[in-house]
Amino acid sequence: MLLTWVLSILLCCSGVLAVNCTSFIIYSPAGADWLRKHCPIVTGHVAIGPLNDNSTTQHISLDGVEVIEGSFGNYYVDIWNPLDDQPYFTLSSSTLREVRGEVDFGTSPTKLQNLTLPNLKTVNTDFQVGLYARDITYLDITSLESVDYFSLAAPNITTFRHRSLHNATSVKVHTTQIDSLDIVSDSRLNLKHVDLAGPFPNIKNIPVGFTSAEKLSISADASVTLGGPSTTNMTIGSLSLSGGVSDLKRSTKLESLRVDSLDLSSSISIPHLEIPFDNLRALTLKQLYEAHPVKDITLPPQAVNWTGGFELDISNAPELNLTSMYRTDDQNNRVQTWYWPTNISSIQISDTNLGNAFFDTFVAQQNASLDSTYPPSVLKSFHVYPSRNATGFNCAALNELSKKGRLPSPPFNFGCSNSTKTSGSTFIRTASPLHLAGVVFGATMWMV
Ligand SMILES: *[C@@H]1O[C@H](CO)[C@@H](O)[C@H](O)[C@H]1NC(C)=O
Ligand SMILES: *[C@@H]1O[C@H](CO)[C@@H](O)[C@H](O)[C@H]1NC(C)=O
Ligand SMILES: *[C@@H]1O[C@H](CO)[C@@H](O)[C@H](O)[C@H]1NC(C)=O
Ligand SMILES: *[C@@H]1O[C@H](CO)[C@@H](O)[C@H](O)[C@H]1NC(C)=O
Ligand SMILES: *[C@@H]1O[C@H](CO)[C@@H](O)[C@H](O)[C@H]1NC(C)=O
Ligand SMILES: *[C@@H]1O[C@H](CO)[C@@H](O)[C@H](O)[C@H]1NC(C)=O
Ligand SMILES: *[C@@H]1O[C@H](CO)[C@@H](O)[C@H](O)[C@H]1NC(C)=O
Ligand SMILES: *[C@@H]1O[C@H](CO)[C@@H](O)[C@H](O)[C@H]1NC(C)=O
Ligand SMILES: *[C@@H]1O[C@H](CO)[C@@H](O)[C@H](O)[C@H]1NC(C)=O
Ligand SMILES: *[C@@H]1O[C@H](CO)[C@@H](O)[C@H](O)[C@H]1NC(C)=O
Ligand SMILES: *[C@@H]1O[C@H](CO)[C@@H](O)[C@H](O)[C@H]1NC(C)=O
Ligand SMILES: *[C@@H]1O[C@H](CO)[C@@H](O)[C@H](O)[C@H]1NC(C)=O
Repeated sequence: MLLTWVLSILLCCSGVLAVNCTSFIIYSPAGADWLRKHCPIVTGHVAIGPLNDNSTTQHISLDGVEVIEGSFGNYYVDIWNPLDDQPYFTLSSSTLREVRGEVDFGTSPTKLQNLTLPNLKTVNTDFQVGLYARDITYLDITSLESVDYFSLAAPNITTFRHRSLHNATSVKVHTTQIDSLDIVSDSRLNLKHVDLAGPFPNIKNIPVGFTSAEKLSISADASVTLGGPSTTNMTIGSLSLSGGVSDLKRSTKLESLRVDSLDLSSSISIPHLEIPFDNLRALTLKQLYEAHPVKDITLPPQAVNWTGGFELDISNAPELNLTSMYRTDDQNNRVQTWYWPTNISSIQISDTNLGNAFFDTFVAQQNASLDSTYPPSVLKSFHVYPSRNATGFNCAALNELSKKGRLPSPPFNFGCSNSTKTSGSTFIRTASPLHLAGVVFGATMWMV
């Protein structure tokens, strides 16, 4: 939020006895000096600038100020203002421990270079270092543990001194140069939204340790570890990974890890995707316009017990091999990699290398008698279209289940197409309008 508040008074001359520590604008290091010597507790706001000496870098110290009851930030200018008349400056306070309003530097332009607040523990509303703090390279908020909304978007921070938050509502980090990212690694955190968007060239692994979050989005060329040193149970509503995430790991200390929906709609760089969750309700893999590195997906055996009605949505994954529920590993062992949850709500698969064997246990369950231990699931929709070069996928069993009422009915809630090739054959396919574009493209590829 922008600092649009009205400032009531300015600092005055030294030697005043009845000091009024309400709101302040700092125009110079000398002004800051007066404030820090007289006001351990500021009952109003503190704004930095415009500074009145632009001949050299200005160093503003607020050592002595302990609490700011209002907001703390740079003075507001519009976002196109180049601040040509302003000096670079640094800001530090080794005593400041609490700000009850917001801390806001850089949601409007500022030439702040260093922000050093190593003992700041609590910010009752927002803590933001925004996009327009382009010159800040050093940020020390080592002790910050309680904040409502935390947001870091300054592009050039290289040194970020911080441990994890303990208490926060939402966290956003869009700072690309930082060298550590432990901000949400503490198990005391129960968050709404967490958005970590790199690229983060200086970070190899992102440790996620909160106990819960409604939504976690990570876009980064880094591995992600779910579960911190003290986390035993983790719950995530919606988990989105993109930006080339290179691995998804589960800490061995986690007793349970439950995710409602996993969304891989953009690029990830995980050829062998393992989904180590105790529960998952929806899996979406769509790699439109991106590289398609996912070759296989491994679910844990407990996937059979995933609750809530599983929704599977896979499209545009031409490298993905869903020909079978098994995979041959490096030691030439046949290992089961896919386990169908017994409660399925919908299945959409297209442009993937599919085989009938992939559906084996699903088809068996859908065809079982209604009073069996695992009765057939009631699906809302079922659409399965193999990729152009898939071989030997046939809809016969699925058509039969649809006719029998064990899968939805065509045309809207059921669709299936046989693979167009058997090894060595020419391209023949009865086109559904939905897939005409694919057929035309396929024809140019396969009928030459
Ligand atoms: C402090 O400031 C407030 C608001 O500006 C004013 O009402 C009050 O009289 C001032 N007190 C002193 C001691 O100056
Ligand atoms: C200082 O500000 C004045 C305008 O107020 C500008 O003309 C001058 O170039 C600035 N000097 C520096 C060193 O930025
Ligand atoms: C910012 O802080 C770092 C670490 O204390 C220091 O090395 C650097 O010189 C500071 N930059 C400025 C402009 O004071
Ligand atoms: C800060 O980052 C921007 C790109 O966002 C870049 O153009 C600028 O040169 C950088 N400034 C410094 C001081 O590194
Ligand atoms: C967490 O922060 C909120 C305000 O942001 C506060 O009301 C609450 O008491 C804090 N909880 C803990 C455990 O510190
Ligand atoms: C964590 O999960 C385990 C296993 O599901 C469960 O037994 C335990 O009660 C959970 N602990 C908490 C604190 O929720
Ligand atoms: C699934 O749940 C059933 C019944 O609770 C249990 O017997 C079985 O061991 C579970 N399967 C897996 C693989 O966890
Ligand atoms: C399957 O999931 C759906 C959706 O949550 C639920 O309504 C239904 O009761 C579940 N069926 C079984 C057999 O658990
Ligand atoms: C299928 O074709 C795509 C290109 O359209 C290719 O990337 C992929 O490797 C092929 N898959 C198989 C199983 O041949
Ligand atoms: C797909 O997986 C099956 C089972 O592991 C394997 O036999 C087959 O060669 C794989 N196909 C491709 C194109 O990798
Ligand atoms: C379903 O079960 C019947 C016997 O009850 C069997 O004849 C039929 O082939 C089965 N269909 C599929 C698709 O497995
Ligand atoms: C697929 O092949 C089966 C028999 O092999 C046939 O009954 C069916 O009509 C074909 N086409 C579709 C779209 O299911």
